[in-house]
Amino acid sequence: MVEGELRGVIALDGPSGTGKSTVARRLAAHLGAGYLDTGAMYRTVTLAVLRAGVAPSDEAAVTRVAERVTLSISTDPAHQEVRLGEESVGIEIRGQVVTGAVSAVSAVPRVRELLRIQQQELIAGACDSYGGIVVEGRDIGTAIAPDAALKIFLTASSDARAQRRTSQDAAEGRTSTLDATKQDVDRRDRLDSSRAASPLQAADDAVRLDTTHLDVAGVLDQILELVDERELRGVAASPGRW
Ligand code: DC
Repeated sequence: MVEGELRGVIALDGPSGTGKSTVARRLAAHLGAGYLDTGAMYRTVTLAVLRAGVAPSDEAAVTRVAERVTLSISTDPAHQEVRLGEESVGIEIRGQVVTGAVSAVSAVPRVRELLRIQQQELIAGACDSYGGIVVEGRDIGTAIAPDAALKIFLTASSDARAQRRTSQDAAEGRTSTLDATKQDVDRRDRLDSSRAASPLQAADDAVRLDTTHLDVAGVLDQILELVDERELRGVAASPGRW
């Protein structure tokens, strides 16, 4: 059954702290579309690696863990749930331990291949049930959904991104300082952009959007304009507000 307005895939890529997750979730909810947080999938594999006592830099051992992992994630923007086996791990995967190790795990080619297959299946399933899906990550426009109807690459200054991450940590009950967060954000972006396997980079046909001086509503307005320019809504737009 096709439920929502959006027809097709919106790929939302960019480094951390650009507002990707909030924008992607709200956009999906507004358009009645599915939503997929691919970063949560890399974080869940990383949690499994750490729990197995494996060093994130040990590619062969990380690969063995990734091949055994049972990971499930919902594509409902109103009900985000990610599971490792039967266990709901949505909170634990956001902690500092996983955040510190996730870039190394996500650089392992076999991990990316396994998750690519699962992500492409989830995207196809959500297109069948919702009509469309908003997918956020680092390589969605380049590797996961190269035929996406709309590709957006979000950027923001490194100061703005560190500030947003620190506020998000505080809102979710984690303690962090602006300096430490800035170092972590910069380190992760360096690693994510320089890895050999599908690095963080904008697709040639992506629209770049600098969010440094925009709030969430401002970013959403710009993306919705693009959605309408490309006629990606299958039914009449609702007059809803953000
Ligand atoms: O979006 P996030 O911060 O939750 O992502 C966590 C990490 O996962 C990030 O450092 C890079 C990696 N990642 C990736 O390599 N490819 C994706 N499509 C999504 C995330």
